[in-house]
Amino acid sequence: MPKDITILAIESSCDETAAAVVRNGREVLSNVISSQIALHTLYGGVVPEIASRKHIEKITPVVSEALKNAGVSADELDAVAVTYGPGLVGALLVGVSFAKSFAYAKGLPLVGVHHIEGHVAANFIEYPELEPPFACLVVSGGHTHLVEVTDYGVFKIIGKTRDDAAGEAFDKVARAIGLGYPGGPKIDRKAREGDPEAIRFPKGRVEGAPYDFSFSGLKSAVLNYLNHAKMAGETVNDADLAASFQKAVVDVLTERSMDLVRARGYRKLAAAGGVAANSALRASLKAACDAENVAFFVPSPILCTDNAAMIGCAGYYEFLKGVRSGNDLNAVPDLKLGER
Ligand code: KG4
Ligand code: ZN
Repeated sequence: MPKDITILAIESSCDETAAAVVRNGREVLSNVISSQIALHTLYGGVVPEIASRKHIEKITPVVSEALKNAGVSADELDAVAVTYGPGLVGALLVGVSFAKSFAYAKGLPLVGVHHIEGHVAANFIEYPELEPPFACLVVSGGHTHLVEVTDYGVFKIIGKTRDDAAGEAFDKVARAIGLGYPGGPKIDRKAREGDPEAIRFPKGRVEGAPYDFSFSGLKSAVLNYLNHAKMAGETVNDADLAASFQKAVVDVLTERSMDLVRARGYRKLAAAGGVAANSALRASLKAACDAENVAFFVPSPILCTDNAAMIGCAGYYEFLKGVRSGNDLNAVPDLKLGER
């Protein structure tokens, strides 16, 4: 029986200060998330400076709580994993600096983890039997990628957004309708009362690039719709607008994902990232996969949005490969997928 590997994981790339203890990659012993959402709501979006300050305030209590909830002492840990990019530089630096100091003080190896690799790995926690290869749709506030996961932490990017990320589109449209921040969950909720067929919006397709996305045209179409209604003195049905916008996004994400699955003969499709918490997207991908006998994987909503358990899982597989970060590990705000 090989020795258990217990990892303390830290995530602070955006507006969640999170720490988790994960055993052997997929067993989550604790998962603590301190969200700053209420704070940033006042400003209609994440204010980077405020995020950094809040991370500094929260990082020590959040890590202590994660160790306490797991019933694990620092001496029982085998490694520390931390998100080092992409994300807000000031926010990332808090987690990276803390992880470096902690690892150094305890004599533990340090593993820098790519945030998006973490999002994909959330699926391994939810589905203990899931193994690469599989196709994966990564949809977050900063990313919209269609990838092939060929091995643990190994990605082949097949398509991506040319402009806004899917989550960004949700957030911008929510602001325009007056739903506020964070937009994704608010549109998700509002859309349940509306008719997705009420307004026809353009799908985010890119001519000549069958796997790429573009959401800026859709966002403009929503803004134009709102302006026209305002000038004509008509009242807008927010629920219909939210449902119709959401349908346009969900349809294109589903179509593109299924195109990839079909073209490469995948029998497994996973979804990852904050937008994968969207109820309409989950239902649409599940129905499309069921219709074609493809197994569909998506983490529970709490593991879709930012958390440290997913970083502990991704960190475990990097640790097994022998990846170690030095004490010179730095935050890399624009770290590309597949880069180290
Ligand atoms: O993965 P995540 O927590 O952070 C990033 O890595 O960006 O994703 C945050 C994004 C935000 O744009 C948020 O509006 C969106 O995910 N989101 C949702 C839902 N929950 C979060 N979008 C649509 N429907 C949701 N239920
Ligand atoms: Zn994220």
